[in-house]
Amino acid sequence: MNIDQLKKTSSEALEAAKTEQDLEKWRIAYLGKKGKISQLAKTLQTLPPQKRPQTGRQLNQLKKLILVEFEKKKRKLNLTLEQKKWLDPTLPAILPPIGHLHPITLTIREIVSIFEGIGYQRVSYPEVEWDYFAFEALNMPKDHPARDEWETFFVSDKIVLTPHTSSGQVREMLSQKPPIRMLNIAKCYRRQQDVSHVPMFFQFEGLFIDRQASIANLKGTLDYFTTCFFGPKRITRIRPYHFRFTEPSFEVDVSCGVCNGHGCKLCKAGWLELGGAGMVHPKVLKAGRIDSSQYTGFAFGWGVERVCMMKTNISDIRLFYQNDIRFLEQF
Ligand code: PHE
Repeated sequence: MNIDQLKKTSSEALEAAKTEQDLEKWRIAYLGKKGKISQLAKTLQTLPPQKRPQTGRQLNQLKKLILVEFEKKKRKLNLTLEQKKWLDPTLPAILPPIGHLHPITLTIREIVSIFEGIGYQRVSYPEVEWDYFAFEALNMPKDHPARDEWETFFVSDKIVLTPHTSSGQVREMLSQKPPIRMLNIAKCYRRQQDVSHVPMFFQFEGLFIDRQASIANLKGTLDYFTTCFFGPKRITRIRPYHFRFTEPSFEVDVSCGVCNGHGCKLCKAGWLELGGAGMVHPKVLKAGRIDSSQYTGFAFGWGVERVCMMKTNISDIRLFYQNDIRFLEQF
């Protein structure tokens, strides 16, 4: 084989290589120790001495050329192989990350569906509220010390950021006639911030008014919610407490889910505090133009974040509003 022939066959064979294996085979066949170039180099000795330098130079040039072509081909092949990988239509698509509803929204939806099951209707009332509905109508006249508990943000003398959903009680009474089964869920605001308080949080408030509403009905409703929300093994208890707008007033506890009411470091001797409740005070019924000789009612109001924390054993309420994706993804 002479130099020109070798040039032609080598570039044809190189052109035909389609895979990395083809390319490697080609490399061995042409550039390998026993490859075609070496073989041709050996034949140099058989040439007449005066022809050898020129042929030797030509052979070297061919070798360089072939090497350059080989490198080019290698790059091209890698590129097309890579492109082929990218364009493989049978590969599963890369999906964008999918978000989901915030844990507090999920909790609100669950609470709504539980109470809808026993005839409560969800409402919402203003977050920027008259002092009247937030305090005065709830039997807390101006300058009454009980107001201190609510750590209120005042917008003006008569307007507040509502510090609790109880502000919806009298609004609801004024907007319809009994029987009433109201579920008011809204943002509330208080000047507080620590592991169990944030300045903005959610409360859900139940208000039930009917002809013979009793504490037994209240207790039954609390038990119903607790077993639906926390599970069948959890029970509630009510302890005497004081609110200006309920009489009698209670604090509601739920048995601890970790120790099953036996007492552990997470709870207070087997119980976790849920929030307030009570029988609607006659003065509040009066503010809502409801005849307290005909009707009685009960109310309860708890934190949405709080019940969510109690269910999932989260210990810092601020996590809900830091929007750390690692936290939110767990729900
Ligand atoms: N509004 C009260 C609070 O924020 C809770 C409560 C609601 C108490 C209804 C009694 C009845 O603490």
